[in-house]
Amino acid sequence: MADERLIVALDFHKMEDVKNLVNELGDSVIFYKVGMELFYSVGAGVVDWLKTQNKKIFLDLKLHDIPNTVAGGLCSLMNLGADILNVHAAGGFTMMKTAADKLREESAKAGIVKPKLIAITILTSINQNDWSGLGYDSLKISEQVVRFAKLAKDAGLEGVVASPQEAKLIRENCGKDFLIVTPGIRPAGSDINDQSRISTPAAAIKNGANYLVVGRPIRAAENPKLAAENILAEIK
Ligand code: C5P
Repeated sequence: MADERLIVALDFHKMEDVKNLVNELGDSVIFYKVGMELFYSVGAGVVDWLKTQNKKIFLDLKLHDIPNTVAGGLCSLMNLGADILNVHAAGGFTMMKTAADKLREESAKAGIVKPKLIAITILTSINQNDWSGLGYDSLKISEQVVRFAKLAKDAGLEGVVASPQEAKLIRENCGKDFLIVTPGIRPAGSDINDQSRISTPAAAIKNGANYLVVGRPIRAAENPKLAAENILAEIK
């Protein structure tokens, strides 16, 4: 049975691969993530096509620039009809607030449902080595994630993308209505790939995640539909 909490990442560069996977997964998956690989190669047509299939869309383009540029970029994306858009929290409070305010104003003016706006905290691929390499030795990753999540909330965003390992802390600090979207999901025994701060689907849900983003464990599985159904069962 379809469960909106599973978002499948369409990290392809050809429409044909998108159609094959979406058709294969059928009614069991209703939420899809379109990221930079797919969007940069096929453009907005993929969002239109997913909408014709009655799917929901997280357009994961991770905007990170000065406030005016990000706000303008989001307003252009708003017209595509995705359900969730995102920016990097590292762009700062002013950038996030300008973006959230502008998106609210422009969607009201256009009479369309405002897409939810969420912030990337710290990429789930960042491990302690990468973190130290950036010069942040004195900060704990989890503390920085919570700091970013609180900033995003204060700026008027609806939620964050974070590791499932930090979901519990974010939930405690940002309340029950704040959306927590967690990539870095790996069913027990599956390949970690380039991810670092991972957890199983069950642990992510238990720790308070609202949405789980899953890519390779489904896309690269011998039987993607079965892999998705196993994850959905674990979510339940
Ligand atoms: O294949 P895998 O399950 O690792 O895919 C995770 C997806 O989630 C990728 O599309 C990646 O871009 C995205 N993502 C992430 N970590 C974040 C934000 C997004 O892995 N912090």
